[in-house]
Amino acid sequence: MQKRELLYEGKAKRLFLTDDDNLVISEFKDDLTAFNGEKKSSEAGKGALNNKISTELFKLLESKGVPTHFVEMLDDNHMLHKYVDVILIEVIVRNVATGSLSRNLGIEDGKVLPFTLVEFDYKNDALGDPKLNDQHCLILELVDSVDELDQLRAMARQVNDILRPYFFEKGLNLVDFKLEFGKDGDGNIILADEISPDNCRFWDTKTGEKMDKDRFRQGMGGLKVAYEEVLKRILNDNDKKPEESTYEAMMDRALGTK
Ligand code: C5P
Repeated sequence: MQKRELLYEGKAKRLFLTDDDNLVISEFKDDLTAFNGEKKSSEAGKGALNNKISTELFKLLESKGVPTHFVEMLDDNHMLHKYVDVILIEVIVRNVATGSLSRNLGIEDGKVLPFTLVEFDYKNDALGDPKLNDQHCLILELVDSVDELDQLRAMARQVNDILRPYFFEKGLNLVDFKLEFGKDGDGNIILADEISPDNCRFWDTKTGEKMDKDRFRQGMGGLKVAYEEVLKRILNDNDKKPEESTYEAMMDRALGTK
């Protein structure tokens, strides 16, 4: 599939048209940004790592019945996917309090939430991605109905129900993540964008070490090594489970239910 003209350039990806109106190509960039573009850098190889990680996760989600825009990985930095009308809502899923949730509401950093929280942010850099409630989404005409918002919430929870235990088996606590959705040519809502350490928080279940973009946000260094480790754990078979634990046991311990 040939890359044609540039359709759009975002902070982490460039989007190109192809010969097929229904398909586009994303090029994963090495650029890193944080704090709504105020902090900028670049890390050679980061784009390829995110492309590979996203490819594996989209394949996993598709195999479990989650519709996604993914078609195939073309090479290290390029992914072929369906063209979607992007829904301008960032769907944030949180299992553990940290980041803006702890900052905004004073919830202790690292506190396991009593249930999975799903939030909506407006995908609008000029406004700094503010929080949205259902009524805001309807007034801004970001979706057609509350049913569509319910569908976004249900799909986000389904993704979490698949990915949280999957990563836990690999020694990674999926703390929170951001998803984006779009409508395909038939108007169906499907998962879009990417799923990578750029938009997920992963904490090592044994050491608590941060294995995601917080290493860049917090100036910790070691970002590429952490992303490589995430990819390695995804590609390894599930033969190295963390000792003594299962996902359920971890949840029991965290919530004090046993
Ligand atoms: O910063 P905050 O705590 O709200 O982020 C929650 C989750 O959403 C984090 O995993 C972060 O990486 C992701 N996120 C993102 N893009 C944004 C905002 C948040 O990927 N614009």
